[in-house]
Amino acid sequence: MYMVTNTIQVLEGYGDAILERFKVRQGIEEMPGFKELKVMKKLNMKGYEEVLVHTVWEDKKAFENWFASREFHLAHRKPAMTPDGQKMVTGNSIDHYEVVVESDTSEAVGYVG
Ligand code: HEM
Repeated sequence: MYMVTNTIQVLEGYGDAILERFKVRQGIEEMPGFKELKVMKKLNMKGYEEVLVHTVWEDKKAFENWFASREFHLAHRKPAMTPDGQKMVTGNSIDHYEVVVESDTSEAVGYVG
């Protein structure tokens, strides 16, 4: 499995406005090899806000296919602007990961209780 995150810095006071935009789905779920999306608001921020977009893919190729797709392009074509004309997003960083260990409650073997 392959994971790509985008950490987005947002002007203070506009984190929720950016998160609202992510609630409008724009096609990633239809892409071959897509596994999971989580969009997270970082808590306890001061001075600016941060939104973490976490995507999981079957493999690197699946991510690259989406990154080059019309769906990706359309989802990114209109930068979010404040009423006074500033870009809400002030920066971002993209990180790629190989997923090595995965677990969830289906792996529970009864150590507790
Ligand atoms: C290059 C800088 C990037 C910026 C500033 C950015 C910012 C944003 C914003 C603000 C949205 C909300 C949609 C909208 O505003 O209409 C969005 C959508 C999205 N972005 Fe990015 N993004 C960037 C690149 C990436 C990359 C590399 C990834 C890979 C993890 C990514 C993952 C996503 C996903 C999964 C969505 C939702 C797409 C869907 O619903 O189909 N973004 N992005």
